[in-house]
Amino acid sequence: MPRSASRRRFLQANSAALLATQVPGLLRGAEPAAPAALAQAGGPKAVQTKPAKWVRWDERERRQVEAAVAQASLFYWQGRGVNQQTARFAEQFRKHCPATHVATCSSGTAAVHIAVAAAGIGPGDEVITTPITDLGTVSGILFQQGVPVFADLGAATYNLEPAAVERAITPRTKAIVAVHLAGTPCDLTALRALADRHKLVLIEDCAQAWGAQSAGRPVGTVGHVACFSLMNSKHVGAGDGGVAASSDPRIGPALLKFADKGNDRTAPGYTWDRTDVLATNYRMTELQAAFGSVQLERLEGIAAKRWALGRTLIEGLAGAPGVIAPAVRAGDRSTFWFFYFRLDLAKLRCNRADFVAALRAEGVGCSAGYIPVPIYKLPFFQRHGFFAGRWLIKEMGLTAMDYTRVACPEAEAILGTGVSVVLNESMDETLMRETAAAVQKVARHFAV
Ligand SMILES: Cc1ncc(COP(=O)(O)O)c(C=O)c1O
Repeated sequence: MPRSASRRRFLQANSAALLATQVPGLLRGAEPAAPAALAQAGGPKAVQTKPAKWVRWDERERRQVEAAVAQASLFYWQGRGVNQQTARFAEQFRKHCPATHVATCSSGTAAVHIAVAAAGIGPGDEVITTPITDLGTVSGILFQQGVPVFADLGAATYNLEPAAVERAITPRTKAIVAVHLAGTPCDLTALRALADRHKLVLIEDCAQAWGAQSAGRPVGTVGHVACFSLMNSKHVGAGDGGVAASSDPRIGPALLKFADKGNDRTAPGYTWDRTDVLATNYRMTELQAAFGSVQLERLEGIAAKRWALGRTLIEGLAGAPGVIAPAVRAGDRSTFWFFYFRLDLAKLRCNRADFVAALRAEGVGCSAGYIPVPIYKLPFFQRHGFFAGRWLIKEMGLTAMDYTRVACPEAEAILGTGVSVVLNESMDETLMRETAAAVQKVARHFAV
């Protein structure tokens, strides 16, 4: 018998027992039995539990939207006491992310653009960020004529590696945009120290990390500016929407201006002709604010539940051959917008597509990877064709950036070897344990 075949037989005979010792509670006292065949091969599915119906809003949101409709105006700013929903939203927001200046806006993309503009990013200024994110993280940098500079990531956190950020700093660097990917906080202590040492603005893109905590502090409160998204699939939403917030007196007041065509309507003696910056209209309406303010009342429950579910899943993956669980720094709280683990394909006799297909057949909601390529590999980055096919700051010599030469090997490996698992607050611990058992089963089946 070939060695690999005998090893396979050994694993098949012993994997149930291994599972029982490595994932306490999975078998719940059942006798170790011969491992079940993969569901793909006609065996029983590892996941039997169906998530409850995911109810994300109800009468409470409806009542608050009705209160907005009853108002004389749906414009976010009609003078104090009238723009009640936006004020209510800001009050709820501050319970999660205390900040002096809170600018409600139309999207997470808008929030980052506002933050970058308020931080004073101008032509040729470099902003260090992650290559694994939504385009919304970088488009505002480009619109302000700044230069996104991509730094590499931690292998298991999938977040900016402070040492890689430090290596990317040049005399032109003005800011860092740190994305808390999939709800897991970046190493904010290190990034803030780095920013302070080099006099950089630290912008936190918290779009995927509502309710997450870094060393006990809410994300968004460690950097100079926080950005959030209320796009439909986020932890809390309003269909669309965003928030840019800051307690920094140099940046905070400018947030309101950059959200509203240069107008800070709260400024004493405000008149339209005092507008002194070019900015677009990123306003949020009272309807979105009404809806979003009730969503924020739900946030702590959502965040705590996702953290508990994600931890159960991480614990359940321990010992699965060829499986690398995500890492959350000690003292931090991830709120798992989705759950991403990696495969060590040298330890498996399959490719990622096979692994994912087998896992899906076991009943796990999952897919291969996250975004298809790192941001710098997008065709218009490779062509430097941001504005009607041109990039004037490069033509003018204000930047020598060449995205065809950028490589972040860890980020590329993260995208090439990862599996995204759906996780949300409608799920329960049993489902997480079954999901972990499914990963264990598939991993042991394919283990070399
Ligand atoms: C990390 C990150 N930043 C920014 C955005 C942009 O948010 P929005 O879709 O609200 O513009 C997203 C959206 O998914 C995101 O995930």
